[in-house]
Amino acid sequence: MSNATKTDSLRHFLQFSDFSRDELLHVFERAKIIKDKFKRYEPHRPLHDRTLAMVFEKASTRTRVSFEAGMYQMGGSVIHLTTSDSQLGRSEPIEDTARVISRMVDIVMIRTFEQTRIERFAEYSRVPVINGLTNEFHPCQILADIFTFIENRGSIAGKTVAWVGDANNMAYTWLQAAELLGFTLHVSTPAGYRLEPARIASTAAGALKEFSDPLDACKGAHLVTTDVWTSMGYEAENEQRRTAFADWCVDQEMMAAAAPDALFMHCLPAHRGEEVTAEVIDGPQSVVWDEAENRLHVQKALMEFLLLGKAS
Ligand code: CP
Ligand code: NVA
Repeated sequence: MSNATKTDSLRHFLQFSDFSRDELLHVFERAKIIKDKFKRYEPHRPLHDRTLAMVFEKASTRTRVSFEAGMYQMGGSVIHLTTSDSQLGRSEPIEDTARVISRMVDIVMIRTFEQTRIERFAEYSRVPVINGLTNEFHPCQILADIFTFIENRGSIAGKTVAWVGDANNMAYTWLQAAELLGFTLHVSTPAGYRLEPARIASTAAGALKEFSDPLDACKGAHLVTTDVWTSMGYEAENEQRRTAFADWCVDQEMMAAAAPDALFMHCLPAHRGEEVTAEVIDGPQSVVWDEAENRLHVQKALMEFLLLGKAS
């Protein structure tokens, strides 16, 4: 079963703010139902006969496995493409790629470099497009992170999340989530790696507080989270970043400054001894394995919503 033409009701998930608060809460509710069914080995196959194409222009473990397993578990099938094994690697325009792929499948997930590249793909796509990570955003990961927070602690509204480290795709997506879901994001980055003023200029009051000392950012936080010092695509800066970020390692002292029941999250892959100590990531406050697993459940809910609308 495939799409016929591009319709006005076509929705994409290119950044977190593409969804309203109500839609996000609906996805979280559905993710819980879908997860519970999965744990009971109860089939959930609303995407029977649907096909997902995944396009990876950067490496992945979690994103690939969670989307691929999720689509098969929902009754559909999956096509996996990378830059090097497709004509993208031989400079076929992204617009042409979008027009062709979206005539043959029902939904597309893309991991790529610039946000403008996925936006161009979406503009020419007849089917929903999901951002599986760009230089600017990682919305599926934040869906999983917030779902994990809700599972463990209830609503995230009114809470404080501390972001320690690079002002990267994860940090900016957390910021969109803070605005939409009504929590405060504390951000601490080294000088020279701060959030870009132009990208935070219109941030809602109360959603963001910046700190030069990472310990201050963690004070009273309900969740402490970090990510690699060097994201994919920025490897040339590796050595320089290693020096600049040396004090932005989430350790036991930072966790002790946070709220007593604070959680620790990391989107993974992690580098123990760089952005986080082994003691913290492997310690009792860490929920990183649930966080990774929840990619599966939230993305099933996301694909269901994009293809079928609100399920009841
Ligand atoms: N967190 C995450 O997106 O992991 P992968 O790079 O392994 O997909
Ligand atoms: N910020 C990291 C996340 C990896 C899942 C990157 O973009 O490489």
